[in-house]
Parts: sequence; structure tokens; C-alpha cells
Amino acid sequence: MKSYDRLFIDGRWVAPVHNGSFDTIDPSSEQVLAKVAAATAEDVDLAVQAARKAFDAGPWPRMRGAERAAVLRRIGKGIRDRLHELAEIEVRDNGKPLPEALWDLGDAAGCFEFYAGLAETLDDNAEQPVALSDDRFTSVVRKEPIGVAGAIIPWNFPMLMAAWKVAPALAAGCTMVLKPSELTPLTALELAGIAAADLPPGVLNIVTGFGKDAGAPLSEHPGIDKLAFTGSVPTGSRIMQAAARDIKNVSLELGGKSPFIVFDDSDLDAAVEWIMFGIFWNQGEVCSATSRVLVKRGIYARLIERLEEETRKITIGNGLDDGVLLGPIVSKGQYDKVREAVERGKQEGARLVTGGGRPAHLDTGYFMEPVVFADVPEDSWIWREEIFGPVVCVRPFDTEDEAVRTANDSRFGLAAAVMSRDDARCERVARALRAGIVWINCSQPTFTEAPWGGYKQSGIGRELGVWGLNNYLETKQITRYGSDKPWGWYIK
Ligand code: NAI
Ligand code: MG
Repeated sequence: MKSYDRLFIDGRWVAPVHNGSFDTIDPSSEQVLAKVAAATAEDVDLAVQAARKAFDAGPWPRMRGAERAAVLRRIGKGIRDRLHELAEIEVRDNGKPLPEALWDLGDAAGCFEFYAGLAETLDDNAEQPVALSDDRFTSVVRKEPIGVAGAIIPWNFPMLMAAWKVAPALAAGCTMVLKPSELTPLTALELAGIAAADLPPGVLNIVTGFGKDAGAPLSEHPGIDKLAFTGSVPTGSRIMQAAARDIKNVSLELGGKSPFIVFDDSDLDAAVEWIMFGIFWNQGEVCSATSRVLVKRGIYARLIERLEEETRKITIGNGLDDGVLLGPIVSKGQYDKVREAVERGKQEGARLVTGGGRPAHLDTGYFMEPVVFADVPEDSWIWREEIFGPVVCVRPFDTEDEAVRTANDSRFGLAAAVMSRDDARCERVARALRAGIVWINCSQPTFTEAPWGGYKQSGIGRELGVWGLNNYLETKQITRYGSDKPWGWYIK
């Protein structure tokens, strides 16, 4: 493995001020994968200063959108050119199966290409006239980059989460300091390597390190104008508190406990497959995972049976091995958390249908057989809290009203899904669900063009699409007094 012991600050690879480092682990082997630079407040300060200078005096925010677009397209191409190599790094660092990593990396490249397109449209659309009720005045509204953005991202989709923040921020003309998760820092450093040749110094800075040592100083830094965070609710709350001190703009994409309602006219195999995709894909380490499944009583028993049968067939192993569709949990800490949740579910009276043990053929690595819990009590911890692992909780329901009420009875509201052959029912339920993303007859497909984000404690703001670009834009009105007549208030 090559060396990852430098931070990317002001266009250069530099050692951390205190020369700190930490190990990132391959969760399949539990072995050290690489030594990574550990940033502290001093490094974060240097990175923010570099981003500040690049924003206040550098060319990037002043370029035409089309020029920034050309750079974004080259970054997208840089990812595509090394897609396989980067996907393998992602598998080693995070554990996910290679086909998923390839998908993520393709989406990350696509995200840069999509925001390149939006950066181009900024040149013509950056200023729009506003009709005023007083014809002595004319006004234009102008979109301008918000300034220096600080981004803090999680470990479940390392490169993709970086792309979701870096691409729109750069398209808008912002500069950025990005802190990847200490559990999966490698592909963000690779991204810096890809972007380095094309970006003016200081436009993109990557500081690897721990939440407390590097994330907190970034969220508290007065040189930051905007904070963009994806991760857990408690950390999101801390970031919002830090932002409150000097009124930073903040967007948060937090956890979920998303429901999936399956009616009894659904195709059973389609239902089983989408339920599985909704919770076992990426080891269930997905903010929008549909982890609470509500099944109409008439098909409940048969569905649980088919779900058990198919869940037992999933090939578990090292994500680089052929045919593997479930890798290890990302870290020892997360593995323990998921195992504790499974124990808790048993104690709470949920029926463990399958899974929860270590697969017989794997004696190292943070592996777990995927879990199906049935008859999960509505007031149980496992029904209400985010587990963030391959654990699905299923309950029966009798009426549509009951299903919608149970689905909405959560402090989260990121995503939801509904399945039925009755289109009118799907459309009706989709509108009744309190969530930022609703899937009909599927679960999880995500498109760069469409808004992504949650209701309630699942967050604030939307990423992706034009909404994602607006996260990094300020709105300015420029209003002109154009009348020949004097104002005539004091001086008549
Ligand atoms: P986390 O929310 O603590 O970590 C996410 C990012 O925030 C990481 O880059 C971390 O270094 C940083 N961070 C941590 N503390 C910080 C602080 N005080 N100030 C600034 N940045 C800080 O999530 P963690 O610990 O990795 O996982 C804990 C749980 O969070 C998981 O079990 C899961 O339930 C949930 N989670 C949800 C995610 C989502 O996408 N909704 C993603 C990752 C975790
Ligand atoms: Mg790792």
C-alpha cells in the first residue's frame, strides 16, 4: 500500500504540524491497511486559511462557470480513468463488495459531470430580474458562491459522499476544506491527487483525522462560511451548535429508520428482493436503508418465509472475492454496536428469523450473517433506533391508515417506500408519508438529478440536483433607483 501520511493543504502535500498519524483498517482481515495523517486544530487552521485566501483573492470564484465546469469534467474523467483501482481501495478501506464500490465510483464521477453541467448554466442564469411593485425601481437577483465550505463526511460511501459535497461546492465557486471519516480516509486523499493538477491552490483541501481533533475545529472555525455534514444525529447536533455561535449556514444529512410498506397485492419475489436491497446493500450501512418493514397481514407469513430463504443465500465474504454481495461491517466499533442491537432485539421479544452469527467459513473480519427480525414490537429499541447494519425489522399491519401511521411514528424522516400493484394506493401513501425521499415499488435507487435529504431529525436542506448547488450559493438582490424624480422624503 502506498503512503497516505500527508494532508492536502494549499495545493501541496504536507505533514501534519504535530506529525500525528493513525491506522486505517481493512475490516475483512482486521489488518492495518495504511498509516494516515492525523490532523489537529493547527492543520485545520492552515487549511481554512488556504481556502479563505483562495476564495477572497484567488481566481476560482471569479472564473466563468464554464471554466470551472471544464475542471470538474476533468476530475470526473480522472475518477473514471482509475475506476477499478479506486474501487479496490474503497473495498479494502470500507469492506463493501466490489460491484457496489464500482457503482459508487461511477456515481461519484457522474456527480462531477452533472455539476459541471450546472456550473455552465450559472453563466447565463446567475442573474435574474425580479418584477417589483414600484416601477421607479428595478432589481436583479444574483447567485454568488457562499464562501469557504467545511465538509465532514461519514464512512459508508467514502468517495461518493465526498463527491456529493465537493462537486456542487466547486461548481458554485466555493472553496472547501473536507474532512473524511477516520474509518475510510483513503479515497478522499486519492480525490485530492486527481484534482490537484487542475485546481488553483487552496480551492480544495483535505484534512484526514478524528472527529474530535479535526472535525470539531473545522466546525468551530470562524473562517468557514458554510458547514455541510453527513453522519449521525448526535454529531449533527454538535455541528449545528458550533455553527450557531457565529451563524454559519449549515446543511445536515443525518440518520434514518426508514419504513417500507408492502401491500398484499405485491409480487412476492419483487417485494422480497427490494426489501433485501433496502437493508442488505452496503451491509445496511445506508442512511436511507428501509430498516422497518410493514407487511399486510395476508402475505406476512409467506413473505417472512421467502425473505428468510433468500437472505440465507447471500454470499458473505471479502468484498474483493467473486460473487460476494455482503462484506464485513466497517469497523470493530460498528460491528459491536450491531451485535449488541441484535442481542437487544432478542431480549425485547422480537422473533429472530435468521442471522446474527459469524459465518462459519470466516474466522477473522467483522462479518455477520444478515438478520431478519419478525414480530418486532412497535415500542422496542430495534424498531425505533438506527442500527446501521444488515438488520431488518418486520411487522404485520391490517389497514392502510395503520401502516401510514406506524410508518410516520418516528423521529426520523429521511426515506420511505411503498409497494402495491394498485397505483392509486401507492401515490396516495407516498403523499401521506413524512419523508424527504419516497420510493414506489423499489427501495434505494438514487439519482444525482433529484433532491436528497430528510424531514424531522433526518436533517436540514437537500443535496444533489439544483438543490445541492443552491446549498453553496448565496442570494443577492441588486436594486436600482431609476426614476428621474427626486425621492422627496426629507428634501421636498
Ligand atoms: P459520526 O456522525 O460521529 O461521524 C461522521 C463524521 O463526523 C466523521 O467524519 C467523524 O470524524 C466526524 N465527527 C465525529 N465527531 C465530530 C465532532 N464532534 N465534530 C465534528 N465532526 C465530528 O458517525 P460514526 O461515529 O462514524 O457512526 C456512529 C453512528 O452514526 C453509526 O452507527 C450510524 O448509526 C450513524 N451514521 C449515520 C450515517 C448517515 O449517513 N446517516 C453515516 C455514518 C454513521
Ligand atoms: Mg478502514
